Amino acid sequence: MNICFLMYPWDEIDPENDTSLALIHECVKRKHGVALCTPANLTIRNSVTSAFCTVINRMDKVSSNLKTFYKQASIREEMLPLAGFDVIFMRANPPLDPLMLNFLDSVKDDVFIMNSLQGLREANNKLYTAAFGDSHSNIIPVTHVSKNKRYLVQQIKESSADKMILKPLNGFGGSGVILIEKSAMSNIKSLLDFYVTNSDGTSNYVILQEYIEGADQGDIRVLILNGEPIGAMRRIPGSDDHRSNVSAGGSVAKHTLTKEEKALCKQIGPKLVNDGLYFVGIDVIGGKLVEVNVMSPGGITYMNKVYKTKIQCKVIDFVESKVLDKLQAFDRRSRLRSEVENA
Ligand SMILES: Nc1ncnc2c1ncn2[C@@H]1O[C@H](COP(=O)(O)OP(=O)(O)O)[C@@H](O)[C@H]1O
Ligand SMILES: [Mg+2]
Repeated sequence: MNICFLMYPWDEIDPENDTSLALIHECVKRKHGVALCTPANLTIRNSVTSAFCTVINRMDKVSSNLKTFYKQASIREEMLPLAGFDVIFMRANPPLDPLMLNFLDSVKDDVFIMNSLQGLREANNKLYTAAFGDSHSNIIPVTHVSKNKRYLVQQIKESSADKMILKPLNGFGGSGVILIEKSAMSNIKSLLDFYVTNSDGTSNYVILQEYIEGADQGDIRVLILNGEPIGAMRRIPGSDDHRSNVSAGGSVAKHTLTKEEKALCKQIGPKLVNDGLYFVGIDVIGGKLVEVNVMSPGGITYMNKVYKTKIQCKVIDFVESKVLDKLQAFDRRSRLRSEVENA
C-alpha cells in the first residue's frame, strides 16, 4: 500500500512527540510506501493532480524507537500523481486551505482520503462543534459565534457567570484562547476590537463560550477512530496558564473515561462517521464537548508513553481495511463487468 501524508514538512516534525511521525513510522514498519507533501506542494502536471513529494526510502531494518527512526530515515524528492496512492492521510495544521480541497476533489474517487473532504469542509474549524445542534446545552457549553461586538459585549454583561472564554474560530494548540472576567469589563471592548477587526479592514468571527467549571483540573483528549474511542488522556494546565494544551505548557496523565464521557462518545460517534470524520481528537471538559479536531489530531505519542500502548497500530489497521474494501469492490466490479461483456 502507498500512503501520502498531506502535512507539514519533514524537517518540521518533532521526533519526540509527533503523532504524524508515529503513524508514518507504523506504515514504514509494515513495509508500506510513504510520501509526505504539503498543501503548498500540490501541482497539476499535464492535467494530472500531482505533488512534489518527500518520499521515505525503503529501509531494511526499522528501529522501534521513533527518534532513531526519524534520524535514520533517508528521503528523496519526487513529483508523484496523487491518484497513484492508496491513501491520502490529512495531517496539515489548521487553518484549512480551501484550494487544497479543490485539488483533492479531483482524486477523491480514486484514493481513500482520511478524513473525507466533505468532513474536512464541514468540520475544519470550531463552528462544527458550536453548531452541533444541542439546544439544551447538554453536551456543548453555551456558545456564541459572532463578529458583532455589541452583541458579544451584551452577552458578557447579561451572563450570570463572572468569567467566560473568548477564542478565535480557527486557532489550535491553545493559541488566542483567553479567559475574560467581568471584573475587568473595561478591557473587553479593546479585546474584541483586537480579535474581530483586522488592520486591513477585514474582520474575524470569534467564539464566546461559557467557562466550564473544573477546567483548571485539565481537559480530556479522546482519540476517536471510526466512531469509537481508542485512547484518552488528561491534559493538566501549567501553574501559570488556564489552557490545557501541551503546546501551551500542559502536562499529561492517564485517564479512564467516565460513564458520562463514554455516553458523549456514543452520542457523537455515528455523526462523525456519517460526516467521514474517521479519525478525530475531541476535547472534553466536565463532560462537555469543547472541540472536535479533524485536521491533525494529536496525542498518540503521549498516550503511548503513559499507557505503554501503540495506538497508531489501530489507526493503520483501520486504513488498511478501508483500502482492502476499496480494492475488493473494484475487483468484484471488474469480474461482473467481464461476465456481462462475455455473455
Ligand atoms: N469553555 C471553556 N471552559 C474552560 N476552559 C476552556 C474552554 N474552552 C477552552 N478552554 C481551555 O483552553 C484550551 C484550548 O481550547 P480549545 O477550544 O480546545 O482550542 P484549541 O484549538 O486552541 O485547542 C482547552 O483545552 C481548555 O484548557
Ligand atoms: Mg483543543
